[in-house]
Amino acid sequence: MLIIRQLSRSFREGNRIHRVLDRADARIATGEIVAIIGRSGSGKSTLLNLISGIDQPDSGFIEFDGREITMLREPERTLFRRRNIGFVYQFFNLVPTLDVEENVRLMLELNGVRGREARRRAAAMLGEVGLAERRHSAVDTLSGGEQQRVAIARALVHEPRLILADEPTGNLDEETAQQVILLLLSLVRTRGATLLIVTHDYDVTASAQRVLELREGRLHEVGAPAYGAFAGGS
Ligand SMILES: Nc1ncnc2c1ncn2[C@@H]1O[C@H](COP(=O)(O)OP(=O)(O)OP(=O)(O)O)[C@@H](O)[C@H]1O
Ligand SMILES: [Mg+2]
Repeated sequence: MLIIRQLSRSFREGNRIHRVLDRADARIATGEIVAIIGRSGSGKSTLLNLISGIDQPDSGFIEFDGREITMLREPERTLFRRRNIGFVYQFFNLVPTLDVEENVRLMLELNGVRGREARRRAAAMLGEVGLAERRHSAVDTLSGGEQQRVAIARALVHEPRLILADEPTGNLDEETAQQVILLLLSLVRTRGATLLIVTHDYDVTASAQRVLELREGRLHEVGAPAYGAFAGGS
């Protein structure tokens, strides 16, 4: 269970304060797949940064599986993030000097899994994203879709309970985007992990169990009728 309670975060812009999140609330059950929508600048990435503990709120709380992560100090927050969270970003964020398998192994090594065991798990994970044969390739020789599949393998290899994806298909063509999304959703479902996915893609919102819209600093549940209107339906 992920609980977001009265979460606020402001940024200073010149001499005015921009309140990006304004007492946002949400409860997300374990294993739920939740799409987060909202216009550019509405605070979607800010929200993910707070959940992962990269950033800290001005006030409010985030609780994950009974632990209040907003109360953790920096070293514990880093450990918590490494162990429990997997990330997928719009621009893949792979380490260019490492090959495909090394990129995936990195998340295991950060969690103390090394040597033969790390190689075995990385290879198995790369098999699941269909890249077993490319495991010794330099990441910059891969296509965008392949790079995003490496990023998905890296996000899941250490079996995190929570996956955060920030516009993971924003940089892919439509067909590749759809394949990458189907893969991500199926891997997340198999593991029973929770997925928060920021997206502008209607296919993703249609496959998610819930859609939350970030508007005026708060999270609004987008119900089926409102979603129809949002998607341009009847
Ligand atoms: N570190 C920061 N310092 C100052 N302002 C920030 C910072 N991070 C975010 N902001 C501001 O907060 C607002 C929300 O930004 P955020 O990146 O969360 O939006 P977003 O919903 O992810 O947008 P997009 O869809 O374009 O990615 C923006 O106005 C942005 O300029
Ligand atoms: Mg963003």
